[in-house]
Amino acid sequence: MSKSNSSGTLRRLASELAALDAQSNLRRLAQMEGINLCSNDYLGVSADARLREAITAALAAGLPVASTGSRLLSGNAAIWEELEADFARFIGTEAALFFGSGYAANVGLLSALLHPEDIVFSDQANHASIVDGIRLSRARKVIFPHLDLNSLENALRHSDAPAGQKFIVVESVFSMDGDRAPVNDLLEIAERCSAELIVDEAHATGVFGPQGRGLVAAAGGTRRVLATVHPCGKALASAGGFVCCAETLKQYLVNRARSFIFSTALPPYFAAQIRRAVTIISESDAERRRLESLASCLRQQLQEAGFNIGTSDTQIVPVILGGNDTAIHYAAALSGHGFAVRPIRPPTVPQGQSRLRLSVTAKLSDEAVDRLVNAVSTTRIALPL
Ligand SMILES: Cc1ncc(COP(=O)(O)O)c(C=O)c1O
Repeated sequence: MSKSNSSGTLRRLASELAALDAQSNLRRLAQMEGINLCSNDYLGVSADARLREAITAALAAGLPVASTGSRLLSGNAAIWEELEADFARFIGTEAALFFGSGYAANVGLLSALLHPEDIVFSDQANHASIVDGIRLSRARKVIFPHLDLNSLENALRHSDAPAGQKFIVVESVFSMDGDRAPVNDLLEIAERCSAELIVDEAHATGVFGPQGRGLVAAAGGTRRVLATVHPCGKALASAGGFVCCAETLKQYLVNRARSFIFSTALPPYFAAQIRRAVTIISESDAERRRLESLASCLRQQLQEAGFNIGTSDTQIVPVILGGNDTAIHYAAALSGHGFAVRPIRPPTVPQGQSRLRLSVTAKLSDEAVDRLVNAVSTTRIALPL
């Protein structure tokens, strides 16, 4: 029998939850209803029949539904190694290693690679998986203001890692701001300051670059970065994540990345889904163009209506509103208009910058974008003063 609410520990947790509630910052699980504006399925691949067919064919061919262990024990399968080789070829690196989630990929890569004598320079807006990977590594960290490259270069020049190395970690498309890292400038800074660059391409994979290979590939920088990370739960409409890198780094991670070693591998049939998803995104230039045009139309209309969309220039369009209550109010009002949107609050974004995070997908209609802008504007007019 589980413990009752009279337990001291559960009382403490209940009081923390009550405090979150009092700050309008309590999350609850809910089903999404209406036109989905929270989805990272940017190209609409999740509804592609070819993805289902890939799974059905893999199962019919006898691929197991369970991996039965870590890749280092009984969980390896030829299809995972083939997929890693295919993905490395797709991105243009020597090797790739697949992790069970994008979170596990960042945590595994950073916690294994960075040593306590190293210094890591991390953008202030980096994803929690990057933050956690750095924390676990116990490397010295310098958090630089979001995309402030002068500040980054200054910090790189004025910090010494006599016994270690310097690393820069950024996202190529930032998940809550929808702005892009200037990859060319970062490559130059890294080279000028003898630092290694690591780029999380979560929201760029499938969306930017030739065949959707990401912003590092778009900048021609694939062989100039130490690693890129490609979570598969976004435009690839799957799950898991690749670290693309040199073969030596891959073998190092196989031996040292704890989130790879101490975790059950995903089932082999799932590799067939990812393999098909990679083929689909590589052939999706029309969807990429459609996505770009829809997103640019939404950004323009929101700006013209006087909303603060920050520095977004991608398919992720924040509407920065300020307080938690305001963000909750907008999300609820939009739900009334048939749109599924979540309020994004601290600690996901800084205090006072609560927002709606609208993510555009290629399947959205022009008419839905117009209705959305109308609904956001109507909500502002109806906002209680
Ligand atoms: C930038 C970034 N990196 C990593 C992740 C983690 O990926 P996953 O959801 O596959 O664990 C996310 C997803 O939320 C993300 O936005």
